[in-house]
Amino acid sequence: MNTADQVLIFDTTLRDGEQSPGCSMTQPEKLRFARALAELGVDVIEAGFPAASRGDFEAVNAIAREVHGPVICGLARCNRDDIELAAKALRDAPRHRLHVFLATSAIHREHKLNMAKEEIIRIAVEGVTIARGLCEDVEFSPEDASRTELEFLAQVVEAAIDAGATTVNIPDTVGYTVPYEFGELFRYLRKNVRGIERARLSVHCHDDLGMAVANSLTAVVAGARQIECTVNGIGERAGNCSLEEVVMALKTRETFFNLRTNIQTTRLYPTSRLLSNIVGMPIPRNKAIVGENAFAHESGIHQHGMLKHHSTYEIMRPESVGLTRSSLVLGKHSGRHALRERIQQLGFELDEPEFNRVFAEFKALADKKKELFDGDIESLVLRAEGTAMGPWTLVDLQTVAGGGAPARAAAKLRHTDGRVVERGVAGDGPVDAAFKAIEAATGIDATLRKFELRSVSAGEDAQGEAIVYVEYNQRTYRGSSVSTDIVEASARAFLEVVNRIELARTAGARTRDERTGSARIAQAAV
Ligand code: KIV
Ligand code: ZN
Repeated sequence: MNTADQVLIFDTTLRDGEQSPGCSMTQPEKLRFARALAELGVDVIEAGFPAASRGDFEAVNAIAREVHGPVICGLARCNRDDIELAAKALRDAPRHRLHVFLATSAIHREHKLNMAKEEIIRIAVEGVTIARGLCEDVEFSPEDASRTELEFLAQVVEAAIDAGATTVNIPDTVGYTVPYEFGELFRYLRKNVRGIERARLSVHCHDDLGMAVANSLTAVVAGARQIECTVNGIGERAGNCSLEEVVMALKTRETFFNLRTNIQTTRLYPTSRLLSNIVGMPIPRNKAIVGENAFAHESGIHQHGMLKHHSTYEIMRPESVGLTRSSLVLGKHSGRHALRERIQQLGFELDEPEFNRVFAEFKALADKKKELFDGDIESLVLRAEGTAMGPWTLVDLQTVAGGGAPARAAAKLRHTDGRVVERGVAGDGPVDAAFKAIEAATGIDATLRKFELRSVSAGEDAQGEAIVYVEYNQRTYRGSSVSTDIVEASARAFLEVVNRIELARTAGARTRDERTGSARIAQAAV
């Protein structure tokens, strides 16, 4: 293939996505997701921002060591400490990239950085030079590029390329631009930056006005050859350009764009489900490409057309994004072979020990439920490390409610240090009582912000998924769990949150406000 026709997919789910509220992941979750990204065929994985916290450093380091295939990238501000730390975190990856950034717009220069234009250029050049001294592959991003004076933006980009940047990324940091204007910006840079052909042009869009995908595609038409995006479009505020949407737009309209990516599109659906399960963020039903309704046809006229020929109302086949439908019903008489096949159809590869665990849980669940649907199988497979990530495990939970008396819960928990703690308390209903009993046993007093219950499959005996969001120490934590008993699912989801809080406390993780993100970088030294 002509490399000029190739658009690189740079996935930043683990950096720009993970830093958005309610989307934080543990290290094992990040590793698991990074492996899925490698299978999906992304070209670059931005694994994190190593200077943000020890946890971020370690996660980037683990991904650099263990995930093979894509280039592994780490973000750094334009200062020596950040850049050296990122290089250290990445050193074990055979192919790695340092991504340095500095804001360039007048708004950021005046209100955030208090720096003149000359100083911005000097620091950007210094940052790129330090990075190039440590790594061959260096990306530079002028943050808030879309609100930067064009002439100045061209000067910064030219200086960064002269200093050795091999990729220049143009972020629409606040999701402000519109397609026509953004296309013009890329054309301007290509015309006015001396040496622009020495670097790959990249685009990074946020979705505040719902135009991240459209803006990214316009940039590509105007010469960008790398798109930065996230699975399910997760990211700061309204999110980032959605990977599955931008990739399927390029594929479905290939004759228009005449461009290709390395993405295995049949992995899109399972990867999207995996992320949704890990971060506990349900995918809207009408979400393009991966939403439950994306390939559903309800109206009689549409169904009639579909029966005649699928192309009447379908621009892409569900199988092309990895969505398979099965008429096979699994239940307690199903064997290993049928389960394994269904798991594969859903897009998952399990090793033998993992499969054995899922099979045992499948049998236990099939004893409680007549039929097991795709949602049930997915939740068994995807059951994140969750409550098993410790340090606390739920040994027993008893709840009593009804009859006019206040609900009561008794929870018995075991800590990895050997303690077994039992507490019984009253609450406003059995779920509240269970949460309070867990708080009393663990000594963690968190503020419940949101509690959601949904069914993961069909039928009267459907399993319920509980998702719990709490605030603790100015940080939002999320936990989820699935069970046929919704009080148990709720208690386990709450316990997952408690475990995350404990892990964060022991890892000495910083509060979210100290991490990257436009507003949060305000006080940071460049
Ligand atoms: O949105 C943004 O500007 C960023 C940069 C760090 C690339 O995420
Ligand atoms: Zn961003």
